[in-house]
Amino acid sequence: MVPGGEHVLPHVGRLLILLPGLGAVTTTFLAGVEAIRRKLAYPFGSLSQLGEIEGEGRAIAEALPLAPLEDLVFAAWDIFPEDAYEAARQAGVLTEADLAAVADFLRTIHPMPAVFDPQYVRRLHGPHVKHAPTKRHLAEALCRDIEQALATTGATRAVMVWCASTEVHVDPAPCHSSLKAFEAALEANDPAITPSQIYAYAALRMGVPYANGAPNLSADIPALEELADMVGVPVAGKDFKTGQTFLKTVIAPALRRRLLGVQGWFSVNILGNRDGWVLEDEGSFRAKEATKRGVLEDLLPADRYPRLYGDLYHKVRIHYYPPRGDAKESWDTIDIVGWMGYPMHIKVNFQCRDSILAAPIVLDVALFLDLAHRAGWSGVQSWLGFYFKSPHVRRGEPVEHDLFVQYEQLQRALRLLAHLPLASPLEGYSER
Ligand SMILES: NC(=O)c1ccc[n+]([C@@H]2O[C@H](COP(=O)([O-])OP(=O)(O)OC[C@H]3O[C@@H](n4cnc5c(N)ncnc54)[C@H](O)[C@@H]3O)[C@@H](O)[C@H]2O)c1
Repeated sequence: MVPGGEHVLPHVGRLLILLPGLGAVTTTFLAGVEAIRRKLAYPFGSLSQLGEIEGEGRAIAEALPLAPLEDLVFAAWDIFPEDAYEAARQAGVLTEADLAAVADFLRTIHPMPAVFDPQYVRRLHGPHVKHAPTKRHLAEALCRDIEQALATTGATRAVMVWCASTEVHVDPAPCHSSLKAFEAALEANDPAITPSQIYAYAALRMGVPYANGAPNLSADIPALEELADMVGVPVAGKDFKTGQTFLKTVIAPALRRRLLGVQGWFSVNILGNRDGWVLEDEGSFRAKEATKRGVLEDLLPADRYPRLYGDLYHKVRIHYYPPRGDAKESWDTIDIVGWMGYPMHIKVNFQCRDSILAAPIVLDVALFLDLAHRAGWSGVQSWLGFYFKSPHVRRGEPVEHDLFVQYEQLQRALRLLAHLPLASPLEGYSER
């Protein structure tokens, strides 16, 4: 998965977090980081800030040279020109009082013009976009943005986390199969190359680690994996595992370990933020549906247990419902089967806040990717699957969805990075 025992370069100077998309998730993340820095908030939900290396009784942040929050600086892109304070107000996640407490900081973050094409996010139209003759020119413009953001913030290095809208589902195309084909396609304006892939390409070309928080096809193509390996830069993805899927990857492994049958799993969501508006489009919904649905196929293997999971009917629905804003609600109805074939039902009703769950993931992924980069780990970082609905793993590696196995993988990677022996109580724990 990853090599071990390397020297991790120390954290020096500032770390720039580059954020395509200055919407609900990004602004909630930014406001939270600043509130924590000002001692106005506590980092609920963040492993990098609160977690321990299991079995050692040591904080992760103490055992590993993570970039401290004080040394984080930020830059973003969006198709709307409003600064982070205005964008946060429009997103409607945080109260006026919480925003007022960090308004001066949020007002300093002005998005750079985006690489955007409404062909890939059909329900959004914004004025703050770049225009160039080819996709190669657009990639070069992003590289210049990164250079400039590094210079103006005085950062020594950067990571990029895609927090922009979900693009429409696209199938892998021949131009995704190698770096050579990809670069020719950039020049030829091939429609198979999406804006998020242009950001990912620019980041990797600039030696910047990249993570994809959305479900669309982005760095998870052979061409960009090849580039990541070639330039020695880590990548991770995809689709932040926050609400319903987070719980699904806890409940399904529990049912499977007890060898209870599962006949049906119906997952419904309502949400009223801009993300929900974008997901009303069939193309973007297809991308989201694929990452949400894929989870159960792996966790409840029909081939190994045809009597238990062979007839599993899994349906996922997402509805845009404006009154809820970012306060998403999800319902899961799970039809399970026990001893002698008797049916039982589980209902889960999660009244969550989408961006409140996503913000600490952005922080952890950014800090861990930067750490991996400083350790010389490059290419796909499967160990970060803990944070994603559809973990991006190295080709040929099995995909792991079980949250607790993912947690163990993450802990193992952190132990390697901290030069701690792997023999620990975790060693015998729940490997599938
Ligand atoms: N909130 C969660 O719990 C959660 C979980 C998993 C995944 N996600 C994904 O994270 C992403 C962000 O979610 P959100 O709630 O902040 O959405 P949002 O709509 O509030 O913000 C997305 C922003 O991206 C901008 N944008 C769109 N295309 C862009 C481009 N090419 N370049 C730059 N900016 C662009 C939009 O204008 C918008 O401001 C979505 O793709 C969502 O599906 C969110």
